[in-house]
Amino acid sequence: MKRASWKSKLGFIFAAAGSAVGLANIWRFPYIVGQYGGAAFICIYLVCLFLIGFPVFISEVLIGRTAQKNPAGAFKKLGGDSFWTGSGLFTVITGFIISSFYSVIAGWVLGYLIASIGGLSTHFSSLAEVQSYFKHLVGNPVWGLAFHLIFMVLCFGLLFLGVRKGLERGSKILVPFLIVILIALVISGLSLPGSEKGLAFYFKPNWSLITPTTFLIALGHSFFTLSLGQGTMVTYGSYLSPKDNIPKSCFPIALIDTFIALLAGMAIFPIVFSVGLSPDEGAPLIFYTLPLAFSQLKGGYIFAILFFLLLTLAAITSQISALEPLIAYLMDEKKWRRKKAVIFVCLTSFLLGIPMIFSNFVAHKFLVFGHSLWDLVSMIALDIMVPIGGFLALILIAWRWGFKKAYHALKEGTEGLFERNILVKGYFWLSLKFTAPLLVILIFLKAIGLF
Ligand code: PFF
Repeated sequence: MKRASWKSKLGFIFAAAGSAVGLANIWRFPYIVGQYGGAAFICIYLVCLFLIGFPVFISEVLIGRTAQKNPAGAFKKLGGDSFWTGSGLFTVITGFIISSFYSVIAGWVLGYLIASIGGLSTHFSSLAEVQSYFKHLVGNPVWGLAFHLIFMVLCFGLLFLGVRKGLERGSKILVPFLIVILIALVISGLSLPGSEKGLAFYFKPNWSLITPTTFLIALGHSFFTLSLGQGTMVTYGSYLSPKDNIPKSCFPIALIDTFIALLAGMAIFPIVFSVGLSPDEGAPLIFYTLPLAFSQLKGGYIFAILFFLLLTLAAITSQISALEPLIAYLMDEKKWRRKKAVIFVCLTSFLLGIPMIFSNFVAHKFLVFGHSLWDLVSMIALDIMVPIGGFLALILIAWRWGFKKAYHALKEGTEGLFERNILVKGYFWLSLKFTAPLLVILIFLKAIGLF
């Protein structure tokens, strides 16, 4: 069977941007900024992105493009032995696990979209009301299950259409619209009384809040938001041809992804401080703040629908990218037909999400090591498995396959970028070979308290 490929040069950029921009930017980024130290966390996060995230992004796309295979096949082709096949498979499984709990949160967003259409999410006058509304919905396992199912069915439909038709379309309009809505929210948030405290929290670093865990969270998030360490970018890279310019395609994606996350935080924190919410509320943060903002905003009804619609669409383009690596693996390595692979992967990911919904609902009864199942699985996947996957990609490219070959391959399609700019070459040499892998090791050792 002929391998699928992107229809146009922009196909990769749109699909990869669709994968990168999602719940991690708008739902997760603000709440971890709130939990792990505000502006100081943002600084660490940006450094992680530049020194580790972006080099890993380039490595993964390069692995995919060079091998033209799913992550397990690609890691094997470049690494040469079963350890590397296993490593590639590990990243595929990470993406699959992520897809199961990602869908649960995406289900909440979809549920809020439906509630917004019914006018139910824009009539709040106090924080207590929004909080109790959220708890009422999320505490109802039938609600969670229904929207988890509907969301997965939507993704299933898109995946069924295949790489070309399904993945290339959505993101073109999605990202610009999302930016417009976020800007509107930022402007309206800034007019609220007390919003300056939110801005101070967001822009003035308080370094005393930083702990070794902060670095691990920032690292895990920089990978999660760029869809790294989970097979996605290797798979998307495998649909590229040697003519494509990897750094030029990846840079705007990382930039837009970061810009959207920063905008989301700027929209949320003025509201948080204005209504007297604690910034470290955790996962419900956007569900507490935004409905309250929409309730007070002129045209809030329409804004709420648009916002939750766009966020649902952004979550869909991310979710299909988390499922695609396992589908590609089953097709490449097990010779499954695409349709069979799509059915199997969506169904099992859906089933895996079910206990997580119930663990949230009956969390007080089912605690594993003091955490609900959802917390535990997401922590292991995002803070441990994802960084390991990204680290393996770096080692594969720079040490196993070898930097010389990697550099030669990376130069293809770049039209002399590396020859013209010595800094670019230096950045990749230093970060792929030394700084990025060393920093990942350092952050890990520090987080587990080894020094
Ligand atoms: N990068 C996505 C986001 O920002 O929401 C999340 C994601 C996509 C995670 C793809 C995992 C994945 F395989």
